[in-house]
Amino acid sequence: MVKSSLSDQTIEAFNIPEFKGTLEQQQAIKELYKQFTITTERARIIVNQFIKEMRKGLDHEGATVAMIPSFVTGRPTGNEKGKYLALDLGGTNLRVCEFELKGDGEFAVRQQKYIIAEEYKTDEMRQLCDFIADCVDNFITEHDPSGRNNGNEQLQLGFTFSFPVNQTAINRGTLMHWTKGFNCSGAINKDVVIMLQDSFLRKNIHVNIAALVNDTVGTLMANAYRYPETTMGIILGTGTNAAYYEKLENIKKWNGNEEVFEEMIVNMEWGAFDRERCVLPLTIYDNKLDRESINPHEQLFEKMMSGMYLGEIARNAILHLVDSRLLFEGESAYDLNRQWGFETSYMSIIIGDNTDDLEEVRHILEEVLQIPSTTLGDRQMVQSICLAIGRRSAYLATCGIAGVLSHTGKLEQDSLIAIDGSVYEFFPNFEHHMKQALGEIFGNDITKRVKFNLARDGSGFGAAMIAMMAHKVALAKNP
Ligand code: BGC
Repeated sequence: MVKSSLSDQTIEAFNIPEFKGTLEQQQAIKELYKQFTITTERARIIVNQFIKEMRKGLDHEGATVAMIPSFVTGRPTGNEKGKYLALDLGGTNLRVCEFELKGDGEFAVRQQKYIIAEEYKTDEMRQLCDFIADCVDNFITEHDPSGRNNGNEQLQLGFTFSFPVNQTAINRGTLMHWTKGFNCSGAINKDVVIMLQDSFLRKNIHVNIAALVNDTVGTLMANAYRYPETTMGIILGTGTNAAYYEKLENIKKWNGNEEVFEEMIVNMEWGAFDRERCVLPLTIYDNKLDRESINPHEQLFEKMMSGMYLGEIARNAILHLVDSRLLFEGESAYDLNRQWGFETSYMSIIIGDNTDDLEEVRHILEEVLQIPSTTLGDRQMVQSICLAIGRRSAYLATCGIAGVLSHTGKLEQDSLIAIDGSVYEFFPNFEHHMKQALGEIFGNDITKRVKFNLARDGSGFGAAMIAMMAHKVALAKNP
């Protein structure tokens, strides 16, 4: 077997000190590298298309990128005070929290996570709502927020529901479609607040849903409580999406209410971008994932980028090489053959392995996945695949950000962007790749003005704050 090194460019991109595989493996990895690389030219094409799609979404209903007005118009002052509940549904877990806003940008939180059994994700919506109501009840009983429950005082809650919802008021919205593996029946086109509030009522739980909030909107608000100059909130976790402040005059489809305001947060629902497959460089591994998913043809941008899917793309690419007899001597294993059997969390560990022998990669492949044996070349290839997919995710996210920055005309100003989610937080060098992509698209001067801030678990806090603002407005209207 001929041992060889990867080309300089590949080494730089993948950071492989010296490739130990065969010439055939080297060829295959170069090909993969090509397939998963977003060139500067492609990135610019994506950004331009993104800007067009944003405009369409702002102009009329039913566009691919939905650009949903969130009904959140104010910016927090940092002086907000009070105790509010928050409920977070849409990622891996359900979270119930109580936030105490203390003013001066400070707050305290009590929270509890609940695991959502897989069957609830595809059962009837009523069952899911009842389960959520039980979790809230359990939280109140265990923690008795503020000791108010004894007096039967109604608690105010901000509901983070992280799916595409056509919002009709701050506390009203109908589900457009499910994403991220959820598929409950009896929910599409229904008002999710009314459904959950109904479960609270039936179970005699004294909680009022004061606000319905997308996680990106919550993340933006939470970060703005501390840093008022925050312009965007992004989730790069199980799913992906972004929200930003838009001038009202640009939201052409807004047929609004009597309230006077200049700007509103828009929930973009960018995961749906390029449903038409005009610009995204989908590989056969992406197409296979899409075809086998429960929402084929939908959420393509999200499927190329977010935590729910990256492991599956990697699995498809690895299996392709196994079947080409270029990995593990053509041997696979039970989990590797199984849909979703290669978890996205393995990828962060694999990418982060700096040991000479790629010991952690070996552990995952041989001990966790039970692949009979691997060579160092095999492990380097798997590491390269994970790197290429992670890097592509960072580049695509950056194309979305670049689209928003161009559209809002914020390129000459400093921008602070709040980001939450496991992909952003745990993939090694993710932010570095984002900066690199931004540099390629706009050059270094503009890139220097853009700051990313990890806003860990911000969405619940943001939802609590929005609930507080909405509750105050409701009280003022109806004391
Ligand atoms: C949903 C968005 C959400 C994002 C991140 C997507 O699948 O459509 O509403 O913000 O995931 O959680």
